[in-house]
Amino acid sequence: MDTPHMADFVCPVITIDGPTASGKGTVAHRVAKHLGFHYLDSGALYRLTALLAKQKGVSLDDESAIAALARVLPCRFVHGHVFLDEVDVTDAVRAEAVGVAASQIAVLPAVRQALVDLQVAFRYAPGLVADGRDMGTVIFPDATLKVFLTASAQARASRRYKQLIEKGIAANMEDLVKDLTERDARDSSRATAPLKPAPGAFILDTSAINAEQAVAQVLAWYAEAPKP
Ligand code: DC
Repeated sequence: MDTPHMADFVCPVITIDGPTASGKGTVAHRVAKHLGFHYLDSGALYRLTALLAKQKGVSLDDESAIAALARVLPCRFVHGHVFLDEVDVTDAVRAEAVGVAASQIAVLPAVRQALVDLQVAFRYAPGLVADGRDMGTVIFPDATLKVFLTASAQARASRRYKQLIEKGIAANMEDLVKDLTERDARDSSRATAPLKPAPGAFILDTSAINAEQAVAQVLAWYAEAPKP
């Protein structure tokens, strides 16, 4: 990372990291809305890179070719929609297969490095809520508040199941639990920026609480946190 702009140091950031389907997207989005902050869905950047690699026929283990795509990722985020070049890929990036591909390319250090500047650029006034795996550990280590959301694999699989069925996409609980567990193992065991709570992170288990309760807890922690 090059020398960050001074504004980077004074602008508050809340990082919300956690495993897939832990509810961090919903919680981060609502916290951002409540505070009037910007929102970074860092997983979308890995998903977009994976989708682009698939579209271009680049092998998912070709580190330098994928890093080259990530470095100039032609993406735009507009009112909750995600565009790759001029194409709206909001639904396409959420597909399970793209999530699995994203997790595969996310183990490649050059790809992670290629996405750093893009993520840091989301930090501007009045503040940012950033959701991902390494927001508190790597991208925004000086965050105002760091949260690590967890939930049991069963709770996460049933949430994902509900989301897919609501969208009219066929789903199978057993496959989802297997997929989540494999993805957790890959995200947690990789050498570069593994999924783990940042030092000083507040841990929030969402297995038995709803999104509103999780949002209220994050806002309460933020209210107490020393501001930059
Ligand atoms: O949060 P998500 O399911 O959209 O993320 C998709 C994949 O991207 C996830 O399995 C791991 C990777 N990822 C990452 O390595 N680091 C991040 N900050 C966000 C996502």
